[in-house]
Amino acid sequence: MKKISFLILLLFICYGMNAIAQNNSIAPAMPSDALTLRSPDGQLSLKFAVVDGCPQYSLDRAGKPVVLPSRMGFTLEWRDDLAHAFVLKDKTYSSFDETWEPVWGEESQIRNHYNEMLVTIEQPVGSVESMDHSTEKKPTVMQIRFRLYDDGLGFRYEFPMENALVCFWFKEELTEFAMAGDHTAWWIPGDYDTQEYNYTESKLSEIRNLWEAGHKDGGWPWTAFSKTGVQTALQMKTDDGLYINIHEAATLDYPTMHLDFNDTTFVFRAWLCPDATGYKGRMQAPCHTPWRTVMVCEKATDVLASRLILNLNEPCVLEDVSWIHPVKYMGVWWEMISGKSTWSYTNDFPSVKLGQTDYEHAKPNGTHGANNANVRRYIDFAAAHGFDGLLIEGWNIGWEDWYGKQKEFVFDFLTPYPDFDLPALNKYAHEKGIRLIMHHESSASTVNYERWMEKAYTLMNQYGYDAVKGGYVGTIIPFGEGHYSQPINNHYHYAIVEAAKHHIMVNSHEAVRPTGLCRTWPNMIGNESAMGTEFRERINPGHTTILPFTRLQGGPMDYTPGIFETDMGKIVPWGKPMKTTICNQLGLYVTFYSPLQMAADFPEHYEPFLDAFQFIKDVAVDWDKSLYLEAEPGAYIVTARHPKTATLNKAADGVGQLPDGKKGVISNATRFVYAIPDSIETKGRVSLSQPRDVWYVGGITDENAREVTVKLDFLKPGVTYDATIYADAKDASGMPGDGYKPQAYTITKKKVTSKSTLKLRMAPCGGFALSLREK
Ligand code: NOJ
Ligand code: CA
Repeated sequence: MKKISFLILLLFICYGMNAIAQNNSIAPAMPSDALTLRSPDGQLSLKFAVVDGCPQYSLDRAGKPVVLPSRMGFTLEWRDDLAHAFVLKDKTYSSFDETWEPVWGEESQIRNHYNEMLVTIEQPVGSVESMDHSTEKKPTVMQIRFRLYDDGLGFRYEFPMENALVCFWFKEELTEFAMAGDHTAWWIPGDYDTQEYNYTESKLSEIRNLWEAGHKDGGWPWTAFSKTGVQTALQMKTDDGLYINIHEAATLDYPTMHLDFNDTTFVFRAWLCPDATGYKGRMQAPCHTPWRTVMVCEKATDVLASRLILNLNEPCVLEDVSWIHPVKYMGVWWEMISGKSTWSYTNDFPSVKLGQTDYEHAKPNGTHGANNANVRRYIDFAAAHGFDGLLIEGWNIGWEDWYGKQKEFVFDFLTPYPDFDLPALNKYAHEKGIRLIMHHESSASTVNYERWMEKAYTLMNQYGYDAVKGGYVGTIIPFGEGHYSQPINNHYHYAIVEAAKHHIMVNSHEAVRPTGLCRTWPNMIGNESAMGTEFRERINPGHTTILPFTRLQGGPMDYTPGIFETDMGKIVPWGKPMKTTICNQLGLYVTFYSPLQMAADFPEHYEPFLDAFQFIKDVAVDWDKSLYLEAEPGAYIVTARHPKTATLNKAADGVGQLPDGKKGVISNATRFVYAIPDSIETKGRVSLSQPRDVWYVGGITDENAREVTVKLDFLKPGVTYDATIYADAKDASGMPGDGYKPQAYTITKKKVTSKSTLKLRMAPCGGFALSLREK
């Protein structure tokens, strides 16, 4: 017994010291006999070697270091670490080149072209110790699969079945990313519970000093782990202008990877989000980790064009994807976010107990947004303007005490409030060509949500809902888990898989930030997982020019743009002005990719500006081509997109297939692309065989006004297009203060060709939008 305790102690001391040594030293230089892998264009070069028993890699671009020698491996429970005593056993090389078609996306064809190296390394029998003595009988086998693309690197650890490792628990992942300079970085603080932060732009060496300030205005709850901890996707820029982005792809059955920066050595180390017991991954062979990615681009626009993260995910596993479609929607939502109305139905109940609280006899508070009359008003407006869907929050019982109470049994996702007639409202919506979008706020009680999920999805099927917005506000239940630990990441995935069985599309808020899984599960049509419009005046200028480089690399964001009344003080006394203009809001529909796009403001806020609202109506949300014309993170983005005609009317066609659905509805973007006048009501009266060639261009800027020159050389040569230009007026400004004039815009119509050039001025916090349709 004594001997065993002594051994355990010794093992702990050895592993502990090893981990400390890892943290405070830099990896040795790559040896001259290191294995090399090159990208298809030969520009990127990856080296791998086992040095003193520890695996390590480096990455160069055109001879310049991108990642200096960096160690790899893990520390584990009950056995020696996976960072020493290794020998190289095998290496295999291969190449891959295919073009695949996403169900929805920024382009209809994506090239997946890489060179691969798979290395097998072993801790030989008897070279390391384990409490179960497995290492005395079998070698410990770890493989590392490297894929090198022209725009970056992906690598992951794999654990084959024939192994001393069968069921094993990670204490730490030791993967390093050693930086070659004090790069500029756009970062948010590392956190186990929220990604809802403004970005800080700073040198890497400044992270520690700016880390406290980086928390200002962020989400709740937040759980930090280090004063130099940051989240991925982390966008950086070197002094020579190279764009480096560290992230991960295909995170399944594994915790989320954050990074901890060592500001002495300039090495980032993987920092996994622990589970409630402190472990950072429970593995069972055969298995593998997610991909760790390092994107390397010469131009900022190439980062936006990169499909590295999607390519590293598995192809779609759903055989039938006919039910998945893009959605342009409105919502009974901004009313609650702005403070105009409430999610709750009554002020009678300080404490709600599902199944006991008597709502039928409760006194309505008069501020409940999801009431029959108000929902009908939104349906009428959304239908009149050709939208696909309408989200309604606060439809179900339980909102009186849902927030911050750590209640396990918080919602049942089934029982509507007395003033929300679910069957009648769905019927009313369908008859007008609109689908209602379901809302499932779990209040972070994942256990409760899982208990009700099957019934909740079945209810949706019964009434013709085909999309749900999920939510995870608050402290995760089971208690002790954070929002991004392995078990909770598994919960989010379970929700997607179960929804797919019911032909339901999912848009989750506060869930883990996506890592390209929408390629495999295209019913994952949206996620929030970053600071979105709900943060209103707290959003910094330039925030939306950073998100496409960071958060959106993993998948689309439900940013919820389209705010036309940006001075929230006009809605509630405590409201403050948002840093944006109407044209900045319009620009977001093109600069942000999402197959799920909201027009978030109230109908009555669009009514005075229907000429500008026309752009939101006309713009498509699914694309066959995207061009990133100009961009710089934290400053501005100009993007042009060409719509995918095949999916333009898919949502409306789906409503037409419902027994109570209106047939032949024409969505607003379909109307624009086919030049169908408003006087033609249904599709039966027009042929959809001749789409016009259409492009949309959007621009957004930070607090600095900017003029950009857009060359229209992407248009078909020799063809004349009608251009409609939505631009900030000369005196417009989205910067709160004396000159705040967010609603000043001009709309200009012009004839243009591929030889035309447009000069477009963006006001502070402003933007522009442009639609171009073949005559
Ligand atoms: C936070 C979400 O981001 C927001 O969109 C939603 O309205 C509230 N939670 C309530 O579920
Ligand atoms: Ca949120």
